[in-house]
Order: sequence, then structure tokens, then C-alpha cells
Amino acid sequence: MTGRDIRFGIIGCGMISPWHAASITSANGAKLVAVCDIVREKAEKLAAEYGEPKVYVDYRELLADPQVDAVCICTPSGMHSDMAIDAARAGKHIMCEKPIDISLPKIDAMIAECRRIGVKLGCIFQRRTSPVWNKIKDAIAAGKLGRMVLGDAYMKYYRSQEYYDSGEWRGTWALDGGGALMNQGVHCVDMLRWIMGPIESVYAYTDHLVRNIETEDTAVAVLKFRNGAFGVLEGTTSVCPGMDHRLEFHGEFGSIRVDGEKIVEWSVPGEENVAEGSTSDIDIKIGTAASDPTTIGMEGHKALIQDFADAIREDREPLITGEEARKAVEVVLAVYESSRTGQPTKLPLSY
Ligand SMILES: NC(=O)c1ccc[n+]([C@@H]2O[C@H](COP(=O)([O-])OP(=O)(O)OC[C@H]3O[C@@H](n4cnc5c(N)ncnc54)[C@H](O)[C@@H]3O)[C@@H](O)[C@H]2O)c1
Repeated sequence: MTGRDIRFGIIGCGMISPWHAASITSANGAKLVAVCDIVREKAEKLAAEYGEPKVYVDYRELLADPQVDAVCICTPSGMHSDMAIDAARAGKHIMCEKPIDISLPKIDAMIAECRRIGVKLGCIFQRRTSPVWNKIKDAIAAGKLGRMVLGDAYMKYYRSQEYYDSGEWRGTWALDGGGALMNQGVHCVDMLRWIMGPIESVYAYTDHLVRNIETEDTAVAVLKFRNGAFGVLEGTTSVCPGMDHRLEFHGEFGSIRVDGEKIVEWSVPGEENVAEGSTSDIDIKIGTAASDPTTIGMEGHKALIQDFADAIREDREPLITGEEARKAVEVVLAVYESSRTGQPTKLPLSY
């Protein structure tokens, strides 16, 4: 498959689908050839805005289309694994929205099936492409902060009841798989885990304090990382107004703090504290979606879709593999388990 365009289909034409359509149509060597939604009008609307690809209402028919090489799965989170397995069996490569799915057995099944058949499986965690987060990861991996002491993520977002009521799947265990953490918070859980390394145990409280949903609108957890550091995770969608997330990394020699997508503290021995100067060189437009999910930037999706098309052509791993995408979900599930049992939960989870 060298040289020619990778032909994409999109399954699920809801809120996030234009990010995929725009990323595919602007990528080098990629083409949008099909879209699918059980609500035909949604698929037709997306198709009309992005070059009139073929419209399907049954994703299995899209998967049977020999003109399609790869699919972006943009359906409710609890559908991802089943659709990915069907796609793999149809020989399609798969770029899956976050969270990759909501249960570890289902995630393991989709990873295993893609590996067995030999199709690529990638996932969206757009912050992993951002210079801001990569700069922090590299600094900590290089030991610039010394021994790590604390790694914290505060995600104090706002989503209205109308937001939850806007889709039957939102805030349900079966299809959202959780609330403030599994849906909105999973991005920064991924950042914290990616930068600080594996988490050994969590102790958590979660509940729906304000919204009328099955899953949690608020979660707090204390963390113990495998490197010996401690940390705190706070995630909510019920504070008003929603605020930019804040992540803090403290080591014995220095500290780094991010507000939204901006480094506001860079106390690293021997380096200029960027908080004192301009941050524009490292402030990429990822967008925080603190109160409005449609305010996320396009750059991360564009970078990941370009990488995915290149990975197919070059027959290499995509930037975020299924195995990588699984890690944040495992942390979120450990938080839920601890909250349920009232005990600390040890990772890795045994299911
Ligand atoms: N990367 C990000 O920042 C980001 C942002 C928002 C959403 N997401 C993820 O994207 C996914 C979708 O979220 P959303 O907000 O776009 O949801 P949404 O409800 O707006 O869209 C989902 C779409 O899937 C369609 N659908 C449902 N079942 C289907 C089926 N069997 N076949 C075809 N289409 C079907 C629905 O009709 C709907 O149009 C979720 O996993 C979510 O976590 C990621």
C-alpha cells in the first residue's frame, strides 16, 4: 500500500466527527470516501460538508465497501470494541476515538483481533501530539526534576444537564462507561499516567453529586505511582463555571505546572522559567473544552490522523497504539473499583 491515498470511512457522525472529516480531508495521502450514522440526516450533513463521500446507515455495509481502507470510529464509547472487531474482520485499519472502549476485556479483545489479523489500531488522545506535554514528559524522563514527589491532575469542568440529555448514551454505564473521569477526564488521566509513569494503587470517592446521570459527575482519588511519588486526581463536570484543567509535577529539584494547555510554572534547575517570559512558543491550540466540548482544537486530531495514514502506508505502529490507549482506561476503572469497594485498588487490574 505505498504511494496511494488511504481511503477513510467515518462511523458515527455526531459531535466529534467533523474533527475527523476535516483531519482526513486536509491530510497528505488520505481521502474521505464514506460516512455512516444510524441517523441518515447526520451522515448526509457531514457528507455534504466534506466532499460528498458515500453515505451509509449500517456500518456493516460501510465495512463491506472495498473502496474503504480504514475507518474512524466516532460512536459512543461502549460500542468501540465491537465495531473495531467487525472492522478488523473486514480487513479495515481502525482509528478509534477515546476512550478506546470502557472495559478491559473488550479492549483486550479488540487489540488481540487487530494484531491477529494484522490491521493497524490507533486511538485519539490529542494532547500526546502537543509540544507542551511532550516538553514536560521529556524533562521528567531526563530526570531534570530529580526524584518525583507529586503528580496531580485537577479537572474541574462544567457540563449541563442538557449536555447529558443530548444523547441517550451520555452518563450511562453501558455506553459512556463512566462520567467525569471516563469521558472528559480520561485525557488528563492519560497525560498524568504518560508523564509520571505507571500507577501502583488508587483510593477514591466517586458519585453523581449534581447531575441526573447513572455515572459519576465528580471523582477524587489519591494515587501512588510505581516510581514512589504520590498524587491527586480530581475530576468533575459539575462545577460552575468550568475551569481549565491544571496539572502539577513536583520533583525534589523542581516543579512544572500547566493551566489549560499552557505551562505557567517551569522551575527546572538551570533553565529559564517560561512563566516569567512569553509562553507563545509552546502554547499549541489543543483547547481545553472546560465548559463546552466543541471548543477543542483541531491540531491534535490532524496530527494523529496524518500519522495514522502514514503508519498504514509505511507499515509501522501508529503514534498511539491500542495498548497505549488502554492504560488511561485502566486507571479510571481502578478509581471506580476503589470507590465501589471502599478499599485501595492495586494496579494492574486482574480483569
Ligand atoms: N477526542 C476528543 O476530545 C473527543 C471529544 C468528544 C467526543 N469524543 C469521543 O467520541 C465518541 C463520540 O462522541 P460524540 O460526542 O461525537 O457523541 P455523539 O452522540 O454526538 O455522536 C455519536 C454518533 O454515533 C451515532 N451512532 C450510534 N450508534 C451507531 C451505529 N450503530 N452506527 C453508526 N452510528 C451510530 C449516533 O447517531 C451519533 O450521531 C465518544 O467515544 C467520545 O468519548 C472525543
